[in-house]
Amino acid sequence: MTRLDSAALGGSGSILMRQRRDHARLDTMMNRWLAGGADEELDVLWQDIVQLVFSHAFAEETVLWPVLRRVAPHGEELTARVEDEHQAINELIARVEKSPDDPRRTSWIQQAFTLIRQDIRDEEDELLPHLRDAFSDRRLRRIGVAWETVRATAPTRPHPGVPRRPPGNALRGVPLSALDRLRDVAPVSGPAARRAFLVTVGAAGAAGVIFRVLRATRRPGRGDT
Ligand SMILES: [Fe+2]
Ligand SMILES: [Fe+2]
Repeated sequence: MTRLDSAALGGSGSILMRQRRDHARLDTMMNRWLAGGADEELDVLWQDIVQLVFSHAFAEETVLWPVLRRVAPHGEELTARVEDEHQAINELIARVEKSPDDPRRTSWIQQAFTLIRQDIRDEEDELLPHLRDAFSDRRLRRIGVAWETVRATAPTRPHPGVPRRPPGNALRGVPLSALDRLRDVAPVSGPAARRAFLVTVGAAGAAGVIFRVLRATRRPGRGDT
């Protein structure tokens, strides 16, 4: 799939092009981190990588892999493999986040990068081509919008205890998403009442968006697959 151009992948808005862009962005960020730099700069870059990895993966687990299981031969086996990769990435990054001063931190981060690269390769080479085979360009763009919508409100931090499949991942992941995003933007010492308000509003909004998308992607096709 990597050799096909944008038109062959359904155009810029298709799920395949959106995935390709995120994968390329992650690759660039991981290379920049590995090239080294000032501690503060690397910490900011690491947080950007973590946010992109988990929002990207949560939207895959919620929107893409259920669709792929319906259309691809061996879809169950293929998606189970990437869900295992996501789980391993979750566990490793959770360990990094819990032990900021551990001397093994750099080596854990490098292991996480190796796993992320494997996940990207498996998706681009083995999973995503099944979506290209199964769907029209129009349908690929519609799946792309659903995936992007969920990604925009998905958790941004590791949650190894959350199931990797819907509905469990959405039921347990969505409330955490508001907390993750609050931690991403607000200081931990912010006034408690304001934090509680933001969490409530954020969780309700994210839950609404994600469950609407889940319902829409579960609807049977309309003859344009
Ligand atoms: Fe991906
Ligand atoms: Fe993935």
